[in-house]
Amino acid sequence: MDVRIFNSADELADAAAQLFIETINQKNDAVLGLATGASPVPTYKRLIEAYKAGKVSFKDVKTFNLDEYCDLPKNDRNSYYTFMHEQLFDHVDIKEENVNFLDGNAADWQAESKRYSEAMAKVGGIDIQLLGIGTNGHIGFNEPADEFTDESFKVTLTQSTIDSNQKYFGDTPMPRYALTMGIGSIMRAKKILLIATGESKAKAIAGMLSGEVTPRLPASVLNNHADAVIMLDKAAASII
Ligand code: PGA
Repeated sequence: MDVRIFNSADELADAAAQLFIETINQKNDAVLGLATGASPVPTYKRLIEAYKAGKVSFKDVKTFNLDEYCDLPKNDRNSYYTFMHEQLFDHVDIKEENVNFLDGNAADWQAESKRYSEAMAKVGGIDIQLLGIGTNGHIGFNEPADEFTDESFKVTLTQSTIDSNQKYFGDTPMPRYALTMGIGSIMRAKKILLIATGESKAKAIAGMLSGEVTPRLPASVLNNHADAVIMLDKAAASII
């Protein structure tokens, strides 16, 4: 893994955005795997700025998001579909038909998983996958488990994930289930960029970089990827 440590979250976001801009400028119809959560927001902000400055265009870019809640209308203010539109898509020239999400309301999640993997394969797979990391080492909603998952699946969210994300829902109870790309789907991306900032991620990052590959710390699987870049701020790198 190519580990890069930055003085600040701002410098990290500059570098992460630059990697995406280079990818798109080398391949105008690049396929991006995208993530939600707080970590990627500054990176998305820089991508919007670069688009407005004429440094990158999303005209032919395709995107696949990592995960989506179940039992939440697509346009709910807390859906990841809404998040991505607010944080990135509404501000750049991406075409709505090139934006892909798992349908958390699909009646048959296995059929939905198959549809998503076929859609990814049809466009040649993901060129670069952006990931955050949970404090428990999860990637997407792949929580610590006994085995690595493969294709997208329906997950029961863990209490630690619910504790982290309930804040966005205020007094409304948040969903208990989500659809997420599996570890196999994530690992099939040609390049992976994991970003982590802040001390709360330091333990998960240290575990991931210890070299042991275990489904108890899902992000550790990135040790097996041929082209994984890990960008950390000093706080996230404080105990490696
Ligand atoms: P965060 O979440 O970016 O909001 O910290 C990351 C994750 O849980 O994958």
